[in-house]
Amino acid sequence: MTGKRVHIQEVATRDGFQNEAQFVETDAKIALIDDLSACGYAKIEVTSFTSPKAIPALRDAEAVMHGIARRKGIVYTVLVPNIRGAERALSCGVDEVNLVMSVSESHNRTNLRMSREQSFAQLRDVIGVVKQTSVAINVSLSTAMGCPMEGDIAQEAVLGWMQRFADLGVHGVTLCDTTGMAFPSQVGALCAAARKRFPALELTLHFHNTRGMALANTLAALDAGIDRFDASLGGLGGCPYAPGATGNVCTEELVHMLELDGYDTGVDLSALLSASALLPGLIGHDVPSQLLKAGRRLDLHAMPGAASEGRPEQRAFDIN
Ligand code: COA
Ligand code: ZN
Repeated sequence: MTGKRVHIQEVATRDGFQNEAQFVETDAKIALIDDLSACGYAKIEVTSFTSPKAIPALRDAEAVMHGIARRKGIVYTVLVPNIRGAERALSCGVDEVNLVMSVSESHNRTNLRMSREQSFAQLRDVIGVVKQTSVAINVSLSTAMGCPMEGDIAQEAVLGWMQRFADLGVHGVTLCDTTGMAFPSQVGALCAAARKRFPALELTLHFHNTRGMALANTLAALDAGIDRFDASLGGLGGCPYAPGATGNVCTEELVHMLELDGYDTGVDLSALLSASALLPGLIGHDVPSQLLKAGRRLDLHAMPGAASEGRPEQRAFDIN
């Protein structure tokens, strides 16, 4: 018997790389995504079609999208902020566009340099264009669980933006905790309300681990019936236009926890750990992943030489 299916969506090459000072070479990005394609993800967010001035780290979006070897069964999605981005994405034959705007006015203006209403008007036009194709449309709502400049975000405000996009016929919405402000009971209440009001929408939760609550928030979302999560290899990630932002929930830690609890993620944890071990070489620094340092819980260690020579009761005494 297999456990309940949970869909894992990798965002390291978008949410992760967008925030790195060191440019990851196009060939290295392509090689990493090809490795990730063999890991068993439901979806991979490959890159973003944003202004190269705003996000220079992803200025090679077309080359990356054209260079990867796409596997059947994986949805290859890209982040898109405006019409120009949508045109670029469509010209690369993406499976899905992931449109982005913020629930808070301050973060939208900081990140996208326009008001929420201006963003919505542009995204409405994008949706009109993309709906004439077979490309799927997801909308990511940033700062849905707190804004680093405005503080708490009312649940009704989040549901209100979801309603406006649902009315335009998008297939999915991602609720993003952009700077790790969410906490479990808040997540549970928001997820339950969103599922009840929008049963037909494909819902994704996108947690950042800024304050160490990402896995706890994931459990709260699972309890509320969510079965789809964004996560980032190594725990990379962060919005360069959100003060204090740090990495997403770490994919290998998320998969490790879910598999221990009997969920079916479809993801090969050993392959993930091998891919994650390559990240420091690509970005020039260590990654937040605890699992990469500690290993899986049953990756056992040999007893240290001296301790293994004593009697068992003596060894216990020695280490106390
Ligand atoms: N792709 C490529 N170039 C784009 C573009 C896109 N999607 N959108 C705008 N541009 C270019 C314009 O052509 C223009 O180029 P020019 O200076 O050579 O003429 C320049 O960017 C500025 O265009 P403008 O429409 O005035 O945009 P802006 O400077 O107000 O920036 C966004 C608006 C949305 C394009 C920009 O803020 C952005 O890309 N933000 C993304 C932020 C992000 O990804 N954050 C992290 C993820 S949540
Ligand atoms: Zn994010």
